[in-house]
Amino acid sequence: MNMIEIISTRRNIKNFKPDPVNVEQMNTWLQAATMAPNHKLTEPWEVYWVGEETRAKLNHKTNFFNAPIVIVVISKHGANELETKENAIATACFVQNFILSAWAEGVGTFWSSMAMAPKMREILGVPSDYEVIGIFGVGYPEEVNAPRERIAIQQKMKHLS
Ligand SMILES: Cc1cc2nc3c(=O)[nH]c(=O)nc-3n(C[C@H](O)[C@H](O)[C@H](O)COP(=O)(O)O)c2cc1C
Repeated sequence: MNMIEIISTRRNIKNFKPDPVNVEQMNTWLQAATMAPNHKLTEPWEVYWVGEETRAKLNHKTNFFNAPIVIVVISKHGANELETKENAIATACFVQNFILSAWAEGVGTFWSSMAMAPKMREILGVPSDYEVIGIFGVGYPEEVNAPRERIAIQQKMKHLS
């Protein structure tokens, strides 16, 4: 797949196979993800691997669609509001790099914002000076839904003088 195909075929996966994902491969994708743009090289991302015990405590309604791996990605606050915002944006770039690297090798991801909730942050032990960017189920998809069409980008363009 070329880059456009990887981007276009990725879906938020809601049905995983039980097949394990190779941890070395996971680390390769996460390492590649660190090449994300990040202002002042703050590298604000951190990754928590969520084990079975913690996963049970989170009590997600579908247990992350039985994904074999669950990770949380958090972003460190900056020295001020602007830097905190920049860090969160950089960490979202990190996430997209990871998701697309995995997808290029047939591994899908489910992105949920549930870990942003205060109770979930507490269970995960997220320090107060970090934003939760998302919690992710990672695994081989049992099913990949058809894409939901997006609005033509021309409709969201403005040409300034
Ligand atoms: C910041 C963020 C939070 C999200 N949170 C959830 C969520 O809590 N539950 C969910 O089902 N999908 C969540 N998603 C995934 C979107 O719902 C999904 O990307 C969207 O429906 C488009 O589908 P696609 O990714 O398959 O193209 C989230 C995506 C982002 C970027």
